[in-house]
Amino acid sequence: MEKDSKIYVAGHKGMVGSALVRKLKKEGFFNLVLMPSEELDLKDQSAVGEFFESEKPEYVFLAAAKVGGIEANNTYRGQFLFENLMIQTNVIHQSYVHKVKKLLFLASSCIYPKLAPQPIKEEYLLSGKLEPTNEPYAIAKIAGVKMCENYNRQYGCNFISVMPTNLYGPNDNYDLKTSHVLPALLRKFHEAKKKMEKTGQKETVKLWGTGKPKREFLHVDDLAEACYHLMLKYEGNLSVNIGTGKDISIKELANLIQRLVGFQGEIIWDASMPDGTPRKLLDVSLLHRLGWSHKIELEEGIKKIYKENFPLENV
Ligand SMILES: NC(=O)c1ccc[n+]([C@@H]2O[C@H](COP(=O)([O-])OP(=O)(O)OC[C@H]3O[C@@H](n4cnc5c(N)ncnc54)[C@H](OP(=O)(O)O)[C@@H]3O)[C@@H](O)[C@H]2O)c1
Repeated sequence: MEKDSKIYVAGHKGMVGSALVRKLKKEGFFNLVLMPSEELDLKDQSAVGEFFESEKPEYVFLAAAKVGGIEANNTYRGQFLFENLMIQTNVIHQSYVHKVKKLLFLASSCIYPKLAPQPIKEEYLLSGKLEPTNEPYAIAKIAGVKMCENYNRQYGCNFISVMPTNLYGPNDNYDLKTSHVLPALLRKFHEAKKKMEKTGQKETVKLWGTGKPKREFLHVDDLAEACYHLMLKYEGNLSVNIGTGKDISIKELANLIQRLVGFQGEIIWDASMPDGTPRKLLDVSLLHRLGWSHKIELEEGIKKIYKENFPLENV
């Protein structure tokens, strides 16, 4: 990629897309194509065709998608399948038609089999049953990974895909109905702390599940660094894991966030609610061999976003 290369970041207002734009600008790229969803609905096949015809981007980062936590994935099952299939199919296909030099597709670690051996290697994709709560999302994303692979095989494209672990950072979603676990915990503890300060009464924070599942978390600025690195250095059909290679139980995460936020009340675990996949730790040895490893540790990253993002505008 040259500094004046025309680079389309699909989903530039989202958490990942905005981090990619920050990274590309920091590296001196100035010819970015950024199109808000209100002006271009990526589900619309002919509109996406016309957009590629007029803009002719040379490089594409595909970070537009319908995303959410367990509840949203489980509730809006049809929408997660349809919208993700449409968005990625349109962008990947038009990138082929309009001879995009390289495309990077954002898949996700939650598309690996529910009971994959740990840590999860890239080759474990499609080796077992999926987590039922996010099966539609996973099926759509797997189709995207396979579309990149098979467009490379049939048409000689240079399309790569990546499997990021759970992300957090600026522009995260703090809506408790649709958010992921880390921003949801931050919001819950923050609100409970504020309520306690206001009323002087002891507060409790209710959390889903047992707290036993283990998860890995990566700051989105690290993800953007990794995607940029892979865009420059990697060609191939394996969807590359991007993570820290370290995990933490949800209970430990809750305790960490409780401490960083300074919430003095009690945590109540509702074990009647689903836990989701028991463990999800990525094997990041391929990423390390490709010359990249994470820089932002979890405690440092959470402190940073708590300082920068709270109080939330609507809280
Ligand atoms: N967040 C994570 O923890 C995580 C982890 C692993 C992988 N990923 C992957 O990273 C990618 C981006 O995730 P994210 O967390 O950045 O999501 P996000 O914050 O919700 O951003 C998604 C972006 O997609 C755009 N979009 C959605 N539907 C669209 C449509 N029909 N037409 C045009 N644009 C549309 C949204 O535009 P508007 O803002 O205008 O609606 C938004 O900019 C996804 O592929 C996801 O699977 C995320």
